[in-house]
Amino acid sequence: MTAVKTFSPQSKPAPSGPDTNASTAQGLTPTDTLRQRARQDVMDGAVTSTYTLDPKEVVALLNDALATEWVCALRYKRHYYVAKGIKARFAASEFLEHAQQELDHADRLAERIVQLGGNPDLNPDTLTQRSHATYHDGTGLRDMIIEDLVAERIAIDSYRELAKFLGDHDSTTRKLIEDILAVEEEHADDLMDLLEAEPTSISTQ
Ligand SMILES: [Fe+2]
Ligand SMILES: [Fe+2]
Repeated sequence: MTAVKTFSPQSKPAPSGPDTNASTAQGLTPTDTLRQRARQDVMDGAVTSTYTLDPKEVVALLNDALATEWVCALRYKRHYYVAKGIKARFAASEFLEHAQQELDHADRLAERIVQLGGNPDLNPDTLTQRSHATYHDGTGLRDMIIEDLVAERIAIDSYRELAKFLGDHDSTTRKLIEDILAVEEEHADDLMDLLEAEPTSISTQ
């Protein structure tokens, strides 16, 4: 596989003129080569010859993340439905917001999977097996918050590792993962606030 060319902003500007290979002066791929390569594997879509990872491996990792997001969305939805009473109202609104954001993450992951030539795996039979986080009903509001916090902490660690794995090999997917990671950290922070606000007295009644 062809190595990715390094772009240096400090490089001298390319000489002006009609020569389509002028960019070689900056260490960039000549335009003719870019055009030829793009046409050669046109059916690979967004995955070009300079993609230095195995797209199938990245798709598999993203499918695990996709399963995690769906399991988290389902768990938050369940917690939203069963959280009752004045004291649980604020927690319920947080659960709903988190559920919606997990589904947004799922959509963005699925879109990237398709861009990489893969298929989003949403088979419900295997969702919980493939998810990093587990699904827990929760027996009371405090228990639900703790289960959600555990799941967020699992997601944070797995996304951090995934971003590191992707590195500069796939900056588009890495940026997506880093965006999602930042939201998972906010979720964990929200859940900590809920726990600290009502450490023992909140209930589902
Ligand atoms: Fe998420
Ligand atoms: Fe989350």
